Amino acid sequence: MRLSLSSSGLKNWDGDVLVVGLLKEESEPHRTELSERFPGLEAVLEQQAFQAKPSDQVVLHPLQEGGPSRLIVLGLGEAAALSLDGLRAAAARAAKASIGCSGSLGLLLPWGDLEAEAVAQATAEAVLLASYKDQRFRKDPEPRRVPEALELLGLPEQAASGLTPVAANCAGVDLARQLVAAPPNVVTPAALADTAAELARDYGLELTVLERADCEARGMGAFLAVSQGSDLPPKFLHLIYRPAGEVKRRLALVGKGLTFDSGGYNLKVGAAQIDMMKFDMGGSAAVLGAMRSIAERKPEGVEVHMIVASCENMVNGSAVHPGDIVTAADGTTIEINNTDAEGRLTLADALLYACEQQPDAVVDLATLTGACVIALGDEMAGLWSNDDDLATALDTAAGTAGEGLWRMPLRKSYKDGLKSLLADTKNTGPRPGGSITAALFLQEFVASGTAWAHIDIAGPVWSDKGRGLDPAGATGYGVRTLVNWVCQQAA
Ligand code: BES
Ligand code: MN
Ligand code: ZN
Repeated sequence: MRLSLSSSGLKNWDGDVLVVGLLKEESEPHRTELSERFPGLEAVLEQQAFQAKPSDQVVLHPLQEGGPSRLIVLGLGEAAALSLDGLRAAAARAAKASIGCSGSLGLLLPWGDLEAEAVAQATAEAVLLASYKDQRFRKDPEPRRVPEALELLGLPEQAASGLTPVAANCAGVDLARQLVAAPPNVVTPAALADTAAELARDYGLELTVLERADCEARGMGAFLAVSQGSDLPPKFLHLIYRPAGEVKRRLALVGKGLTFDSGGYNLKVGAAQIDMMKFDMGGSAAVLGAMRSIAERKPEGVEVHMIVASCENMVNGSAVHPGDIVTAADGTTIEINNTDAEGRLTLADALLYACEQQPDAVVDLATLTGACVIALGDEMAGLWSNDDDLATALDTAAGTAGEGLWRMPLRKSYKDGLKSLLADTKNTGPRPGGSITAALFLQEFVASGTAWAHIDIAGPVWSDKGRGLDPAGATGYGVRTLVNWVCQQAA
């Protein structure tokens, strides 16, 4: 989709689909202009009891000579409550309402005291992201028309720079969505390695893939234990973006890459949603997606390392037994009292490797615990960090992206729940506070002094019904938060 600001006003915009957002205000200036251009409109709004509530939407086919063929009027609620998130939601509605149209989509939204550049970026991203539809697995994909161009009306010229990162950001999100949604017989550890190789080739990134033997040589016994019950070979991926000039900050992005999580011998039964466990590589999808966006945007001064320890958690004669004791790359011994707490085992070796790169900060993303979904629902990820500045920076990055993120505690005393009679630690604590003990387990594998954050995306990785900018299915959660954060670090 081509993106631009339009200098025409409501009176003379001559594209194909026009979407106008109206506030619940007596003196709504756009309403007057709109009624002047489309004389029959007021009667229709009245007839449909349009009150400019955020759920109100009226679609008209004005059929005016030279004018747009479709006019959509959206309610935006009270002016005082206008927010970037509200505008994102409105832009997503505009995108959905314009499906089936070709040509150009004109979008006129009020923006109050919000920053014009941020409004341009947020609304354009929302239109692109909400227009996504995945038909890769259909025999006969439905023919689908969407506008070829988006024109934002009513914004000042300086807002145009907000459009610059939009295509790259959305391409990263869509890559993550495609990886998460694809079934586990398609997105295997080798397929993730292929995706990383493609990014390396397309954008000149540096890729190292450690095969099983390489991981053995490095003593990655925790990661390899998870992979040993699968017929598919594990892949450990290390992808690097190096900026053109001087490196001021080195960052590491670590993603959980379980292409399928059966639970292992602690098999997922009952309500555990085993059939959804293809999304257990959502963390790796998010970091791959972020690398794509970053590689395209080329931020200065910041070097970014992406690390993914990818495998499947399966059951066969060589699979881990509940009760096995394994050794991570730093020599820590782990009693695997539950084979379904496998993500943290793979991340232990991935975090150790990440810290070897001597980064200024490490952020891991993982569909780590059902407990986090119980705590925060599916609109928010949980955030744990040993560094307040990093936590604040990620919170800001998520806020700018419109992605829900909520900080959770690293309560030290809960570590007692991970004590093992025989080994240095167990992998699984008690059910209460399950997402917290998972984070505490990860922290054990982070070099002391390294700023680290863990983001549990088990909830927002997938949306059953779709919401806001996300059609039903894989959301690509985390990509824009990470990209915002990395690009902020560069500034
Ligand atoms: N991949 C799951 C976490 C998960 C569960 C994500 C449900 C999304 C929805 C993870 O590997 C897992 O199985 N965690 C266990 C941990 C438990 C055994 C301590 C869980 O959450 O039940
Ligand atoms: Mn599991
Ligand atoms: Zn898992």
